[in-house]
Amino acid sequence: MATGFRGNGSSSCKYKCDTAANTLQWIKAIADFIRPYSFLINAPVVNFFKDRLWEAVDEEWMECLRKEHVKNLLLIPSGAVQEYWPDSLKKFIRTSKSLALGREQADLQMVLPGWCIASLNTVLSQGMNQKKKHEVEVLSAIISLIASDLKSHAIVDVGAGQGYLAQVLSFHYKHSVLAIDACSHHGNVTSARSERIKKYYSAQIRKSGLETNSLRLPKAMTFHVLSVDALKSLANMSLQDDHADKTSVTGDDLEKTSRQELKGLCSSGKEPSLVLAGLHACGDLSMIMLRTFVECKEVKAVINIGCCYNLLSEYGSDNEGVQNGFPMSFGVKSSGLFLGKSGRDLACQSAERWRNLENEGGVHNFELHAFRAAFQMVLYKYYPEVVATFPSVGRQGKALRRRKKREAALSSQCHEDKLEASQSDLIGGLPDNSNAFSHTISDYGSTP
Ligand SMILES: C[S@@+](CC[C@H](N)C(=O)[O-])C[C@H]1O[C@@H](n2cnc3c(N)ncnc32)[C@H](O)[C@@H]1O
Repeated sequence: MATGFRGNGSSSCKYKCDTAANTLQWIKAIADFIRPYSFLINAPVVNFFKDRLWEAVDEEWMECLRKEHVKNLLLIPSGAVQEYWPDSLKKFIRTSKSLALGREQADLQMVLPGWCIASLNTVLSQGMNQKKKHEVEVLSAIISLIASDLKSHAIVDVGAGQGYLAQVLSFHYKHSVLAIDACSHHGNVTSARSERIKKYYSAQIRKSGLETNSLRLPKAMTFHVLSVDALKSLANMSLQDDHADKTSVTGDDLEKTSRQELKGLCSSGKEPSLVLAGLHACGDLSMIMLRTFVECKEVKAVINIGCCYNLLSEYGSDNEGVQNGFPMSFGVKSSGLFLGKSGRDLACQSAERWRNLENEGGVHNFELHAFRAAFQMVLYKYYPEVVATFPSVGRQGKALRRRKKREAALSSQCHEDKLEASQSDLIGGLPDNSNAFSHTISDYGSTP
């Protein structure tokens, strides 16, 4: 989160990012610490076995860790050491822990006085699992409080997926919301879901004798955001659309919007105010949101939970563009810190997840890597021509498992949807002149 939630490091951490100089000192300490291990960090896990990388690891460490119980190995990413380990190994693990960004939870009541969570009703939370429901309940309450404080005209949910967050913000908190996602299927699901929720709320409003025109639907837009300029134009468009009765938009409209620079709203004497919001905005998308916040004066706040940091494009790598996702700061660039794909994958590992693995789960994980490495060695020796084509062996299995899981979830979701649709039809609703619009445009002026 980038409004008021600034990491100062954990209380046990000797580094701080309260000033630019302290932040640079911290960055430099990290770069110096990991540099000697770049040969390990930059190698895919299978290479540890295939290329005998263990031979480059301190012999005393290997001797000690080889015999160690799995449960203690699983605690290493959390910074736990055993007293009988070599001093140099203990120092390495403790230093690595001391350099990590603190993960203590902020007291939200202190940061945002007046903040309180509203429990979502079954219509709004339909389709969400427990985790998603919790995330959406907490985040929507935070966003709504900040947007209301800023008297913002619109909230832009970037990478909105199926519109869970956007719908809570518009139906429950009554904000004007634009939900953007690269996937047109998600845009359609968002619009259809909004219609169903609208029927429920319309019925509630009619029952209480109020005017149904107080009901707000999020606008769903399909757009692959690949640059700050594109997001700026979309954000501006979300403001204009509140004032112009527009139901379809083209790439030309996007260009016109950036040229017009909110003429309509500005001439009305109001200072435009926007909030950018994201829940699990993948890779570079979070970076684009942060840069848009810095560059676009209409955007008064950004409230974002990033995700998939391994997908960030990296400065100095093959896919180098005008604006790479990592690093964002000149400080990190100046430190010469380079992660690479394997390093970014490694950085996404969760110490907590490793710590919570039971003995059996831990052994299974290590075995999978060992078997995969053995398979790679067989490929190298007997099928070098296959290796040259970079087959994605492990990933296909993973993708297959995920697809099966998704299909199973989808079929139960479809079943629930049908049930809910028939219930909503019974409730009744407004005629179909929805505010929701959905359209597809491409971001041509993008970075690779
Ligand atoms: C992890 S999902 C999160 C969805 C939703 N916010 C939620 O929490 O349920 C990330 C979403 O971002 C979208 N996305 C990723 N990169 C994007 C981009 N550059 N422009 C627009 N949408 C993007 C994906 O299509 C996907 O739906």
